[in-house]
Amino acid sequence: MCGIVAYIGRREASPILLEGLKRMEYRGYDSAGMAVLDGDLRVGRAVGRVAALEEVLEREGGFEGTLGIAHTRWATHGGVTEANAHPHRDDGRLGHGIAVIHNGIIENHATLKRYLVEKGHVFTSETDTEVLAHLIGELYRGDLEKAVQSALREVTGAYAIAVVCEKEPDVLVAARKGSPLMIGVGKDEYIVASDSSAIVAHTTQAITLDDYTVARLDRESFRTTNVDNDPVSAEIRELEYDLGQIDLGSYEHYMLKEIHEQPEALRLCMKGRVDLRSGQIVLGGINQFARDLARAKRVIFIGQGTALHAGMVAEYLMEDLAKIPTDVEFASEFRYRNPIVEEGTVVVAISQSGETADTLAALQEAKQRGAMAIGLVNVVGSSISRETDAGVYLRVGPEIGVASTKAFLGQVCVATMLAAFTGRRRFLAAEAVRDLMERMSEVPGHIERILEQSDAIRDATARYVERDNWLFLGRGYNYPVALEGALKLKEISYIHAEGMPAAEMKHGPIALIDEGMPVVFLATRNSQYDKVLSNIEEVRSRGGHVIAVATEGDEEIRDRVHEVFWVPDVPEPLQPLLTVVPLQLLAYHAALMRGRDVDKPRNLAKSVTVE
Ligand code: G6P
Repeated sequence: MCGIVAYIGRREASPILLEGLKRMEYRGYDSAGMAVLDGDLRVGRAVGRVAALEEVLEREGGFEGTLGIAHTRWATHGGVTEANAHPHRDDGRLGHGIAVIHNGIIENHATLKRYLVEKGHVFTSETDTEVLAHLIGELYRGDLEKAVQSALREVTGAYAIAVVCEKEPDVLVAARKGSPLMIGVGKDEYIVASDSSAIVAHTTQAITLDDYTVARLDRESFRTTNVDNDPVSAEIRELEYDLGQIDLGSYEHYMLKEIHEQPEALRLCMKGRVDLRSGQIVLGGINQFARDLARAKRVIFIGQGTALHAGMVAEYLMEDLAKIPTDVEFASEFRYRNPIVEEGTVVVAISQSGETADTLAALQEAKQRGAMAIGLVNVVGSSISRETDAGVYLRVGPEIGVASTKAFLGQVCVATMLAAFTGRRRFLAAEAVRDLMERMSEVPGHIERILEQSDAIRDATARYVERDNWLFLGRGYNYPVALEGALKLKEISYIHAEGMPAAEMKHGPIALIDEGMPVVFLATRNSQYDKVLSNIEEVRSRGGHVIAVATEGDEEIRDRVHEVFWVPDVPEPLQPLLTVVPLQLLAYHAALMRGRDVDKPRNLAKSVTVE
């Protein structure tokens, strides 16, 4: 959600900033801007993608200078206009030439603005960020670091910021609270960015800033303090991924690339964690807490979006395999409804980015109430991973496509291991764990087979792509998959779709079904298969067209539906790992046919770092 990148060093800043913006564009892409300091401060902004900003810079003859800041925006306060695009400047009357880029929300911006207006400040945008820029300007007494510290003492809300000042051409100030920010440490240069994708091309040494930290960087050195100017320590660590992982390669879109990476992602996710010979599951990150987990009285999974759907699968898994009462909740709802957290409650936060604001805040709330906090997170060193008592990384590699695919599989895979790991320490027999893990180790190969059906799925999708309303239905383990299938279709093709338990259809949604309405059924062979077949009949007899995801070799279903996508037979708890894959492909093809921007769907952002 908003990408920020800043550079101070000896090289030209603008190409580095542009490249960084392109890499982080998935964080937000409704407008972009850049400020470079070369004697004067030059600012360029444009509505639209980073490419639009590039054109503006070209028209202006390029920006020269070795210190600069840049931003790609996902609008929170104020519409998508050039005036609202970052960087924002302080009040020109003061003559400081301060420019700010910001990710997050300044919650008390209205109060601060009133104060500044009384002092004569004139605002040119509707954003909360401009208020912060003016406040820094108002408090500036010849030392940018001090002015930023003073301003941040007055601010409530979340921020990751980078600030430059015409009067201090050798200083870049960055700060963070509640929104991610890293500093890449190169030789005589620093790159500050919302995430490592903008940094890895230049250096693999980086610092992840802690909340309430202010960093002052010049070309040779840096220091980190809190907002009261007390020193705080900052640890440089090695970034784990390389550029190859975040390049498109021969794929047309990141989403397609990531769908195809799923077999390998799952292999990596299981590697070293599942010992097929002994049937043991080794989860290094939670070993120390294994006893607490096994004694848990209640487990609560929290997440948002696709991560929540993975949490719903995890709920089934935990109750099935570990026999612990389990709930799953939207993190956003959990945190605000005064949740009951008793002794023995374990809260498990699921998140690809590890930065989703609601998930992070809900986790903090649960911890405060005494829960043990576990994280199932993909991004190493992310806020959620640092907030938890214990955790298991997904290890599926960077996910760039806004629509989550391989992270979902990683989340479900880790949840399966976690549930079996916990179950083994309770009632689950070693044999049962070994069998399940053996079958799970075959899943990557199965996914490869499903991916071979991509053309058939495309052709089937083409027959329904003009329809504006779709239903996705499943039962048991496949119910969360129905939700995920509907979400995928909605978010990238903008087709209206609803997912629900197949039985729920009769309580209202069945009224929607008319001639030719596409209804996707998760109809694999499992304990609820017969019930699903009945639901299929109910839809067909009302004219609906059924697209089924079914178990290979199921001849019975072939004649009962209009289209069928096949998945290999696996035990029920593993079925979501397979049944979701055809639905990802369906959404992908539908979006392409409708001419959508698959990797950057309108209004969305990869990582939602505001509540
Ligand atoms: C956004 C993304 C979704 C993602 C959700 C949760 O809405 O577009 O794809 O599932 O955030 O993100 P997280 O990083 O916490 O998994």
